[in-house]
Amino acid sequence: LAAGPLAGKRIIVTSGPTHEPIDPVRYIANRSSGAQGTAVARALRALGAEVVFITGPATVRPPEGVQVVPVETASDMHAAVQAALPADAAVFAAAVADWRVASASDRKLKKTKDGMPRLAFEENPDILREVASQTQDRPDLVVGFAAETNDVVEHATAKRLRKGCDWIVANDVSPATGIMGGAENAVILITAEGEEHWPRMPKDQVAQRLAEKIAATLTPPVSG
Ligand code: C5P
Repeated sequence: LAAGPLAGKRIIVTSGPTHEPIDPVRYIANRSSGAQGTAVARALRALGAEVVFITGPATVRPPEGVQVVPVETASDMHAAVQAALPADAAVFAAAVADWRVASASDRKLKKTKDGMPRLAFEENPDILREVASQTQDRPDLVVGFAAETNDVVEHATAKRLRKGCDWIVANDVSPATGIMGGAENAVILITAEGEEHWPRMPKDQVAQRLAEKIAATLTPPVSG
């Protein structure tokens, strides 16, 4: 049995990109590697949490000792999160596609002389916003991520309010930072109390610090 400050706490972590099919052989994806979400899951596990790790098709391997739920699309991820609730906390580190192809073809699209295929899109469920706003089974702590390329604090602060989550872990994913797909991250943690600027450090140290803060919040030290 796990020991540590998070022993007995059930925590959902989403991670990785999603793949949204166009037809049986093609899909739309993004550059998320799943590295930061995987590191968060590993760090929470190391502090004793029971972790349900819901991961899209990531390029890094899932951590040991967690319950791995592999998914492909945002819809699958949504269903997996709902099935994993209730939980004490949920960390939404996945880079979920905002849109999916409205009617993915069940046959491979062919070149025709009629020209290019036209793809229509529809919106995916916003898993973070839904979980953060649900009145039944809302985790005590709901953490979202915000990948921004400009005005990071301003956008992330607005996002925290719009999504209804407790914390937003914001980072600058401009190509020049090398953060998306890289080994390091420089984050700003936005909470109701304000903003904390963390120095640039390896993603597993960001995860460690975040996991410790989650532990301190879920299990405040007993006084007296
Ligand atoms: O709105 P945006 O995609 O920038 O929000 C990012 C945050 O919301 C991340 O925590 C991400 O995991 C979560 N999210 C989600 N479901 C979506 C889109 C984003 O859970 N459909």
